[in-house]
Amino acid sequence: MEFAEELGFLKEQVLFKGKIDAGRRFRNVVIAGMGGSGIVGKIFSEIYTEKPVTLIDGYSVPAHLSRDTLFVAVSYSGNTEETIKAAERAMQKGCRVVTISSGGELGDYGDQNIHIPRSDLQPRSAIGYMLMPFMEGFGLVDAADIKEAHKVVESLDHNNQECFAHAKRISRNKKIPVVYGAYPFSSVAYRWKTQFNENAKVIAYCSSFPELNHNDTMALAETYRKDEFYIMVFDSDRKEIKKRIAITSRLTQTKFNFIEFKGKSLAARLFYMIHYGDYLSYHLGKMRGVDPTDVRLIEELKKAL
Ligand code: PA5
Repeated sequence: MEFAEELGFLKEQVLFKGKIDAGRRFRNVVIAGMGGSGIVGKIFSEIYTEKPVTLIDGYSVPAHLSRDTLFVAVSYSGNTEETIKAAERAMQKGCRVVTISSGGELGDYGDQNIHIPRSDLQPRSAIGYMLMPFMEGFGLVDAADIKEAHKVVESLDHNNQECFAHAKRISRNKKIPVVYGAYPFSSVAYRWKTQFNENAKVIAYCSSFPELNHNDTMALAETYRKDEFYIMVFDSDRKEIKKRIAITSRLTQTKFNFIEFKGKSLAARLFYMIHYGDYLSYHLGKMRGVDPTDVRLIEELKKAL
């Protein structure tokens, strides 16, 4: 399957009906996942604020895991070593363990196992399958939101000229992509960074307002080879963030390339922005002549461990 076709499959995924069942009462949520699977934990933890959420992107689990913990192991393949180890430790601690995978070792490991119906995608292209169980399970979407999310995702495809134009400007001058987001989409800025890494095979950087004002501001004005960075900023409808973006650009004399959201609901805006970054990184990869699906060295590393 051509990678653009694989990306286009996101619109079906937002309709996925898998749903985390929290089971008994829980006090906190702990999510384990790496890379293209781990990102869903980051996104969820930014938008879910009712109970504490801890993310694990390694082997160790926090000491506070208990029978009151809802533990979610997310791994598209179901075979990622760190995630399996973390799930085993959670099971030993008596947590309720939910897995989200397309099979593998984690496929039937948990108290609840959510099965992704396709195992032929790149993990990062299955973000809808892995994120929707959180959105549905924790009541973060209703039917109207899902309908809107489906519509805005469908409105984007690989022919989108805006995505193409940004990629062209990055590739023509071999620039380093920099992505600036803001709550509740800081994690989407991170997703863009990782999509640039994996699909376009370039090092990229991300940060978020207002935090970046406390570290990047002076650097924006005085860093080495400033013209080698291509800075993209997610537009924000929050007054205080808009103001910061404008002042930062003026004080540091930096050109920001704005990326506009589409949609009204959180789910629509979230999935739209995710998808926009998918196509932008896809085009950059194509312009660079690299294969977005090539994960040769990641696979080699996993085998060598
Ligand atoms: O996008 C990718 O291919 C990687 O970042 C993988 O997601 C990562 O290696 C973890 O594998 P999995 O998602 O199967 O747990």
